[in-house]
Amino acid sequence: MPHNTQEQEPLKVAVLGAAGGIGQSLSLLLKTWLGPVAAAAAGAAAPAAAPRTGVIKIAMYDVNRDAVRGAAADLSHIDTPVAVSAHAGDDIGDALRGAELVVIPAGVPRRPGMTRDDLFAVNARIVATLADAIAAHCDLSRTFVLLISNPVNSLVPVLQERLVHASGRSPHDVAQRVFGLTQLDAVRASTFLHEAVPQWTPEMPSVPVVGGHSGETIVPLFSLATRAADTITAEARERLVHRVQYGGDEVVEAKNGAGSATLSMAYAAARITCKFADLLLGLVPELHDTLYVRVRVPGQLLAPGAQDLLETLAGITAGGNGAAGTAGTAAGTVAYFSVPITVGTRGIVSVDALPLQRADEFERKALAVCLGQLGGNIKKGQNFVANLG
Ligand code: NAD
Ligand code: LMR
Repeated sequence: MPHNTQEQEPLKVAVLGAAGGIGQSLSLLLKTWLGPVAAAAAGAAAPAAAPRTGVIKIAMYDVNRDAVRGAAADLSHIDTPVAVSAHAGDDIGDALRGAELVVIPAGVPRRPGMTRDDLFAVNARIVATLADAIAAHCDLSRTFVLLISNPVNSLVPVLQERLVHASGRSPHDVAQRVFGLTQLDAVRASTFLHEAVPQWTPEMPSVPVVGGHSGETIVPLFSLATRAADTITAEARERLVHRVQYGGDEVVEAKNGAGSATLSMAYAAARITCKFADLLLGLVPELHDTLYVRVRVPGQLLAPGAQDLLETLAGITAGGNGAAGTAGTAAGTVAYFSVPITVGTRGIVSVDALPLQRADEFERKALAVCLGQLGGNIKKGQNFVANLG
C-alpha cells in the first residue's frame, strides 16, 4: 500500500539543478511523460493498491534564478496535467517540502581533458549542501533521492553519509532510498550493441551494466544480453565494452568545451524517474532496475540478496569463482556498487547478485579491475564527509 495518509495528495518531484543542460531536458521529459502517468493514476484501476488522484507537480530548483524561472514558465505552457513551479536560492525549502522524489543533476560538467574525478572538489560541496537541505525539508521515510552529478562513484557516498549525519537516521534507512543513476551506461550498451548487430529486431536489447560510473568501473555484461554472446566475436565485444566505458568522452569531445551528455542523460534519468512515479502512485507494486546503492551497511544487511552480492564481489576480488562463501570476506569488499535491485514504496525489497554470478570469465576480469578502482573512489567521498564535521 502507498502511505495511507498521502493517498489523495499530488506526487511532487523536485529537480535540483533544474536550469542546467540535464535539468531543463529532464524537466521537459517529465512534464510530457508524466502526463499520461497522472491520467492513469487518476483514472485507471491500479493493480497494486488504491491509486492517488490529482496532478503531479514538478518543483524546479536552481541557484540560477532567472534561468530556472524562465524554464519553468516555458514548460508551464505545455498542455499536460503536470504542474511546474520555479524555486531559486534560499527557496530550496519550498522546492523540497512534500517531495517524494528528488532528482539531482546540480553541479559542473566536464570539459575535454578532464576526468569525472576532476569535478569532485566543486560538486562534493554542492551535493553536501543539498544533502543538508534534503535532511532539513524532506521526510526520509517517504522520499527517494536520485543522484546524477559526477563523479557518481564518490558523490553517492557523500550524499548518503552526509544525509545520515544531517538527518540522524540510520545508514540502513538512508541506504534504502538514496541511489546513484548509472542508467546512461545501460542505454549506451543497448544502443551500441544494437548498432553492432543490425540484423536484430527493432526492440533494443537489454544489457545489464554493473559496478560504477567512470571508465573501467563501468562493467557491461554483454554475455547476459539476449543472444549477444552467440552473435558477436570476442574482439567486437572488447570494442563494445571500451565504447560503453568511455562513451561519455565521445560527447565531451564532440561538445568541445560546452559540457557533457545532457540529452541522453535526461532521457535515461526520465525513464527511471517515471518508474519511481509509477511505484509511488500505486500503478505498480515494485520496480526493477540497476542502481548505484550502498550495498554494505554497518551492522545490518541492506536487503535480501545483499549478502550473496557481497560474497560474490569478495570472490571476484580474491580471484575465486564468485560463488557465495568461496573466497575473501564479504566485509572487506566495496561499500557501494551498481547492481540490479527491486524497490518497493518502503525501500529496497531485494538485491539480485545473479547477473554477477553468471558473468563469464572476460567479465569477471573486468569486474576485478572495477573493484580495484571503485574502493578508492568511495573512500574519497567518505573522507570528504568525515572532514566536514
Ligand atoms: P550544467 O552546468 O548544464 O547544469 C548544472 C546546473 O546545476 C546549473 O544550472 C547550475 O546553476 C546548477 N547548480 C549549481 N550549483 C547548484 C546548487 N548548489 N543547487 C542547485 N543547482 C545548482 O551541467 P549538466 O550538463 O546539466 O550536468 C550536471 C551534472 O551531471 C555534471 O556533474 C555532470 O558531470 C553530471 N552528469 C552525470 C551523468 C550520469 O550518468 N550520472 C551523465 C551526464 C552528466
Ligand atoms: C557521461 O557518461 O556522459 C557523463 O558521466 C558525463 C561525463 O562527464 O562523461
